[in-house]
Parts: sequence; C-alpha cells; structure tokens
Amino acid sequence: MQGNRIKNFADYKKEYQKSIKNPELFWEKKAENFFWRKKWDIVLDWDFVTPDVKWFDGGKLNITENCLDRHLETRGDQVAIKWIANNPDEKARDITYKELHLNVCSFANVLKRNGVKKGDRICIYMPMVPELAIAVLSCARIGAIHSVVFAGFSSKSLSDRINDADCNILITADGGFRGDKVIPLKSISDDAMKNAPSIEKCIVLKRTNTSINMMNGRDVWWHEELENVDSNFDAEIMNSEDPLFILYTSGSTGKPKGIVHTNAGYMIYTEYSFKNVFQYEEGDIYWCTADIGWITGHSYIVYGPLLSGATTMMFEGIPTYPDAGRFWKIIEENKVNIFYTAPTAIRSLEAKGLDFVTPYDLSSLKVLGTVGEPINEDAWHWYNQEIGKGNAPIVDTWWQTETGGIMISNLAGVTPAKPTFATLPLPGIQTCLIDENGQEILKNSVEGKLCVKFPWPSMARTIYGDHNRFRETYFSKFKNKYFTGDGCLIDEDGMYRITGRVDDVLVVSGHNLGTAEIESAIDEHENVCETAIVGYPHTIKGNGVYAFVICHHQADDEESLRKEINELVSKIVGPIAKADKIQFVSGLPKTRSGKIMRRILRKIASGDSENLGDTSTLLDPSVVKEIKCGVQ
Ligand code: WT7
Repeated sequence: MQGNRIKNFADYKKEYQKSIKNPELFWEKKAENFFWRKKWDIVLDWDFVTPDVKWFDGGKLNITENCLDRHLETRGDQVAIKWIANNPDEKARDITYKELHLNVCSFANVLKRNGVKKGDRICIYMPMVPELAIAVLSCARIGAIHSVVFAGFSSKSLSDRINDADCNILITADGGFRGDKVIPLKSISDDAMKNAPSIEKCIVLKRTNTSINMMNGRDVWWHEELENVDSNFDAEIMNSEDPLFILYTSGSTGKPKGIVHTNAGYMIYTEYSFKNVFQYEEGDIYWCTADIGWITGHSYIVYGPLLSGATTMMFEGIPTYPDAGRFWKIIEENKVNIFYTAPTAIRSLEAKGLDFVTPYDLSSLKVLGTVGEPINEDAWHWYNQEIGKGNAPIVDTWWQTETGGIMISNLAGVTPAKPTFATLPLPGIQTCLIDENGQEILKNSVEGKLCVKFPWPSMARTIYGDHNRFRETYFSKFKNKYFTGDGCLIDEDGMYRITGRVDDVLVVSGHNLGTAEIESAIDEHENVCETAIVGYPHTIKGNGVYAFVICHHQADDEESLRKEINELVSKIVGPIAKADKIQFVSGLPKTRSGKIMRRILRKIASGDSENLGDTSTLLDPSVVKEIKCGVQ
C-alpha cells in the first residue's frame, strides 16, 4: 500500500510530467490499487462549461470496503482510530481496524432499521468522539449521503443545512465536551428540528449524561438501537459518481453552499495526497487537529488515513484546555509522528509562551503540517524551531472544501519547503495564474488569480440543489477554468505563495495592496500577535487602510506603538500601505475554522456597524461588541 510514494524531488518531477502528459493513464494506474466491485468504463469525461466532470464512470465500489474490509487481513489488529478525550483524566480509546469495521457494520444496520436507504441525506451533528467517524462511515456503507454540521454551529445554522439538503435523519449526542464547557447538542437539535420538518428520526448518542428530552417515535438512543442489530452488513454497491457527502461552506452571500463530493475520485485522491504529502510510513501515529465538521477532518482524519491503512488520532478537546500545553502533552504521550494543524492555532499557542512547550518531549515528530490560511513568517519559524526543533519538515498545504484534497504543498522532506510558500502543485493538479485581462500568465515572478485548468479526481461536482450557482461561482469567471478565489504569487523558481482571497485585495490610491502582505508586515513587530487589515472609504485615496491589531501585552503608549507599526509597514511594503487607522483589539471576529470575517470588520471600519448581516458562524460574537466600541 505504502510502497509507491514519491521519494525524492526527481521522482516528483517525473510523476508530475507523467500526470500532465496523460492524466487518464496516470489516475487509472492509481485506481488499480483499490477494491472495485466492477471496473470503470471510462476514466474521465469532462466539460468545464456546463460544468460536468465524471471520473471512473461505470465503476462500482463502496469506499468503506476500501477503508476497512480490505485491511482486515493485513492489519485487522492495528489501531485505526486513537481517540483522546477532552478531559485529560478520561481514558483514551484505541479502536482497531477490526473493531471499526464491526462498529460501522452494526451502525449501518441501525440506520437501515430506522428506514435509511441509498441516496438519503443524513445530517450528523456530533462532538469529536469515535462515534462521529463511525456515523460518517456507516452512511457511506449504506450509500446514504452524509452532511456533517460542525457541533459549534447554532440551531439556526443547523436547521438551514438540514432543510437545504432535505435530510430525513439527524444523528446527534446528548451533549459534547469542549474545554470546561458542555455543549447541549440535543437541546440545540430540538430547536433546529422545530424548523426542520423533514427529520423523521433522531438518533442520540449518550456522551455527557446531560438530561434531555426524547420525543416518542422520533428520537431513539444510539446504544439501545445497537442492541437490536447484528454486525454483518453487506456494503451497498455505489456508482463511482454517486454522491458520497455534502459539506457546507460559506459563500460571499449569506446562504451556505452545500459542496457535493462523489465516491471514486474522492477516494483515489485523498489516499494519494495523504500518503505523498505527509509521507506516512507504516506504524506512524498521525494526528490532524481539525474537527470532522470541516473538510480537513473528512479528508485527512477519516478517509485519507483509513484508505491508507494509517493510525489516525482524533481529539475531542481544544488546544488550551486544561492549559496551552495540551497539544504538546498529547504529542509526548502518544508519540505522535505527524502533526497537522492550522496557523491560527499555532499563533495562539505561540502567544502563550514557551513555558507551555518546553516541559514536553516532542522528539517523536517527523512531519508538521498547516492548513487553512496563509502562515506568516514568524509563526512558520516558531513552529519549525520550537515544535519541530528544526528536524521536522513543515508542509504548507493549500486546498479548499471544493477541491476535496490538498492541491498545492511540498511533500514532507521530499520536495523543497519555503517559509510562507505552499510551494508546488501535486501531480495531477494543473494550476495556473490569470492576469487582469483573463489571460493565463506564462512566466514566473508574477502575481495573479489562482485557477485550475484540468479536472482532478476529488473536485466538487456541484452545489447541492444549485448547479447554476456552482457554475457561476467557480467556472464562469474564466473560460474553461476552475477559479479558486485566491490570489497567488509564483516566484522565480516557480514556487507558489497564496496571498489570500482575491476579494481581500485593497485598492489604495490606485495601487493594489494585498491585505495579507500588510498584515504580515505589521506582525513583524515584536508586540504584535495578529493583525487584520480592511479597507474603508477614504475621500482622497479611494480606500483607506484600517488595521485591527492584537498585541501580546498592552502598550504603555498606544500612539508611539502606532508610529512604530507604520514605520515597519513603510519599510516592508512601502509608504503607500501605511495604515490610516490602527485600532488595538483583544480578539478578531473569526469563523470557527479560524478565518477572519473581514466582511464584518469592513462594515465596522466604514462606520456601518449596525448592519453586520449574518453573524451566525462567528466563534465569539462578544469580540464584535468590543471592536464596535473602540472604532477610531
Ligand atoms: C480557503 C479554503 C482546506 C481546508 C481548510 C479550509 C485558504 C487554505 C491555505 C494555505 C494559504 C490557505 C484559501 C482557500 N487556505 N489553505 N495553506 N495557505 N491559504 O477550507 O474553508 O474551504 O477554505 O482557505 O483562501 O481558498 P475552506
């Protein structure tokens, strides 16, 4: 299984060339390593205008037979999922491939008993416990389409998502532990179900022993249902292009987009990218700290690692509970070899100081990864030196919910890394930059809009129930190209650096300024922890630069700190980019996946703070109040 990884830079170049010359042949070879009920008729059929993309059409398979059954003989007793509880005193759980298989088959029978059929949509709203992974895989086994909603979302976000996909089953828990809080998931679900009439059955896992209401006829307990089923379940045979799951992601308008991924292509690409990017080796302990409620958790906690026969860790808690050393303690205790997290987590832990890091032995770490946003230089070096001790290559993985898998990244220890650069596209990924006139840029050392000009197996196929929006959003801006929405710079060596969303570009006095560029300049100041830049209407410049800045410690003299910050910006980016207004804040409005909601900051900066639109995806709404009060 793990024999055919890319092992050096020359290998990578060869493999990339092969993948461009004959993509069909390239991916067909990868597909042959999986278990198929019937081989495909045609490798690829595509049209980026409609758009319509099919990989391995005519093939029949079940992804869970590839995640589980085919490993039973070779690695049945190996740990598949290693679970760490929120509470450090609660026992960890090791679930072997054999046990996971048994659990998935049993729960698939529970779903069947509750009326689930192939093609049904099932909403999953659960804490980070192994049963979440079991629920996901059981849906896949029975051929139902899972729609996981992150357990931090409100009842309104939950009912919107249930209604959009017309789900008939909701799987939840009585509650979830997060730090010192208990999230009342069932009671939130009850509120959601009042406005989501399509739900016929709600299956409830007991996790927190919170007292809850169970509605007769609708609500059933997970553990009681299990008593009535056996553990044999023949996997439903799926077509390659049958939908596997829907996952909601926020769009530029308020309405979330239900991104649809299908079976075969997603399977092949998540396995391929997992093995090659992280260079997973037999016996490694791999830990991705994301929540399964995000695409990172789907592709790189559940599917990619299990398809590769890996041991994947799942953590229920948060990085700062009981203190900011929790991640490092878990790494020491479990001898984690590969660690994958987000820049926002790295920065917040860096800000807590080294006292939380040094007590722990991190020598098991071989590979570090980041995902979700551009990583600033300072955080990159801290991660490299203090966590990896200079011995663990950092993979900076650029991708999106829509791409299903990692698109641009170095391969750990195999292809060159460069701080703040995602570096090079993976084999099979034909990225390109587009200039203001919509033309492909054919030289290096330039900046442009990042597009993909050829299909890859794990690309999204549609937005659930709205194919028009899918075409409009991704395929109509540039002819025959998938537009990512991101800006990107290619340096003189052909290395890619993601500069941030294109809608984050600011035009100041006729000059294009990337918000990320100014932010990382300000972040260079020793007292600055994090910055968010937005534009606001400025009578002379068109746009003024407004900086929201979080400091490590409160400045004695805010005016002189403002001056120092602007001297830095002036030096690093240029005087044009100097901030017109600098507001010191204690936090920034972020989504739960760590993205700054600039839309909100833009409103506040332009003096329109009453009309903030949908703020339901905010992690901590109280931050907004504070920011509103301090407007400059
Ligand atoms: C957007 C996608 C992919 C899983 C998590 C986020 C930004 C993602 C990087 C990176 C710079 C990055 C992009 C992208 N992004 N990874 N390594 N460097 N930016 O998934 O919520 O769909 O967000 O996240 O702007 O378009 P998502």
